[in-house]
Amino acid sequence: LRLAVLASGRGSNLQALLDASERGQMNASVVVVISDKEKAQALERARKHGIPALWVNPRDFSGKENFEAAVLEVIKTYKVDYILLAGFMRILSPSFIRQAGIPILNIHPSLLPAFPGLNAQKQAIDYGVRYSGCTVHFVDEGVDSGPIILQAVVPVFPDDSEETLSMRILREEHKLYPLAVRLLSEGRVRCVGRKVIISGEGE
Ligand code: GRF
Repeated sequence: LRLAVLASGRGSNLQALLDASERGQMNASVVVVISDKEKAQALERARKHGIPALWVNPRDFSGKENFEAAVLEVIKTYKVDYILLAGFMRILSPSFIRQAGIPILNIHPSLLPAFPGLNAQKQAIDYGVRYSGCTVHFVDEGVDSGPIILQAVVPVFPDDSEETLSMRILREEHKLYPLAVRLLSEGRVRCVGRKVIISGEGE
């Protein structure tokens, strides 16, 4: 499988994908990384692996539609099978999703549908849940609302700060995203309505 990764920041999930790919754990490669932020560490990480890393500056475009068209144009030239959002801090428009014509995945640091949107880890702490985690899901037109592919659970401790919980969740994210890609590459993931069926699970 050929993957495009969209990232705005640190890029630790991108790194996990790059590492899993190089270790042969995914049967998929990241062929292009695109960021809306010039200084995103994600771009550095991609370049270190010899992967094309492009900054698409939103300010070069009048409006979201034109920015998204530019991103899509890049993606189309790389003939990718999946678009992976990994800390991409922009909400993609329904028309981007439609025109992409390929599935888009996202990773979110909570057990969706709890705590969508920004600062999911802080939301979990403020709410007082005992467990949180992360979710890999297909992107649909809502915010963090598409069909759920995989989730991992972590405990929330009374003395957790946003940082300590985020770190605990992040360690799971780094395993979960490559695993989701592996399942896709093995043709084991299928959507039935809003449910995702993973074949061979628990066999
Ligand atoms: C992760 O917590 C991810 O779940 C969320 O944004 C963060 C990105 O971290 N969508 P990184 O850039 O992959 O290190």
